[in-house]
Amino acid sequence: MAIRAVREIGDEILKKRSKAVTKMTLRTKILIEDMFDTMYEQMGVGLAAPQVGILKRIVTIDVGDGPILLINPEIVEVSGEQTGEEACLSVPGKCGVVTRPDYVKVKALDQDMQEIVLEGEGLLARAFCHEIDHLDGQLYVELVEGELRDTRAEEEEE
Ligand code: NI
Repeated sequence: MAIRAVREIGDEILKKRSKAVTKMTLRTKILIEDMFDTMYEQMGVGLAAPQVGILKRIVTIDVGDGPILLINPEIVEVSGEQTGEEACLSVPGKCGVVTRPDYVKVKALDQDMQEIVLEGEGLLARAFCHEIDHLDGQLYVELVEGELRDTRAEEEEE
């Protein structure tokens, strides 16, 4: 088990486009394990490899229904719309409202580099979009409607 440092907004690596994974190596397997460890330790619902400083198209997600690994994910179908709060481990203490599709179908590779197709609704659809954006160097803060809010201040008010 290894926890990796999460890069934060302002770090140039978060703006870069990640490269496709062409073969599964021991190094990549260790990266995937570390990404899950880091995501769970930080209590995130998703993590993309560039957030730990590695420009590879790898995403880990768990919205509460178990771990999901996506390698070289592509969105192949979207429908509907949802508007809700989003946050990111790379933007600590902040949240903001983002509109995303309510249904997202993704095509990706699994740990054995076999093609998988996954469908998500609600939070999972949102996580697919948010994490795949990271692979293209985009942070949700660019999509926020209105103000990026401080979650810590809200907790203090309660
Ligand atoms: Ni994020």
